Amino acid sequence: MGNFLLLNFRNCIIAGLILALIMIWGFGMHNPNGYDQTFWIAVVRWIHVFFGILWIGLLYYFNFVAARKTPEIPAELRPALSKYITPEALFWFRWGALGTVLAGLLLAYLRGYIVQTLTLGFVGTEPGAHAQFALMGIGMWLAIIMFLNVWGIIWPNQKIVLGIKEADADAKAKAARIASLASRTNTLLSLPMLTSMAMYQTLFG
Ligand code: HEM
Repeated sequence: MGNFLLLNFRNCIIAGLILALIMIWGFGMHNPNGYDQTFWIAVVRWIHVFFGILWIGLLYYFNFVAARKTPEIPAELRPALSKYITPEALFWFRWGALGTVLAGLLLAYLRGYIVQTLTLGFVGTEPGAHAQFALMGIGMWLAIIMFLNVWGIIWPNQKIVLGIKEADADAKAKAARIASLASRTNTLLSLPMLTSMAMYQTLFG
């Protein structure tokens, strides 16, 4: 049982997913309006938060753990990270980022405020509601900037650092610095970004 379910990564994820689907079914059954639009918004929210955890969890692994501790690892042991751990972490990291953004934009669309938020409250808002959409929109734009950072800066430069793309030692050192700065930028932006994600619904419904 332990070997089959828990020590096998794929089976473990499938089991988690099945339990989640049962829970989601339960929420639908007990939602006063059944499987209505609001129910599906809640499901997209769940998908969005799952991808958000995958992405930002790995961002925090890179910044809270790997970047700070790697310099202490003896040089001859470091290839274990660069050959095995980091490429796999970056795989889930960049696809997690894409999943988060797609589900997030879909969520904003289903909530009916995608235009209002992306224009920071300047388009399509009632008088007096400008600020609440601006507050949500700022978080969404921060997350979009973070996403562009992942795919446009961190990943292309990490390919050079990890040797997936050929480059000389100078180019590698430069790429490592750029990737680190972009990754730290995302860590910084993640905290204000999360305020919009976590506070909007509680305060504005
Ligand atoms: C471009 C990227 C993103 C977009 C467009 C986006 C969009 C949204 C939207 C529209 C909501 C619903 C807010 C509401 O009306 O209550 C939301 C909620 C949320 N988002 Fe994002 N988001 C993005 C990135 C992220 C990231 C990177 C995280 C990191 C974990 C995240 C975590 C959350 C959480 C935890 C919620 C709250 C769920 C809840 O309490 O119901 N989002 N997001």
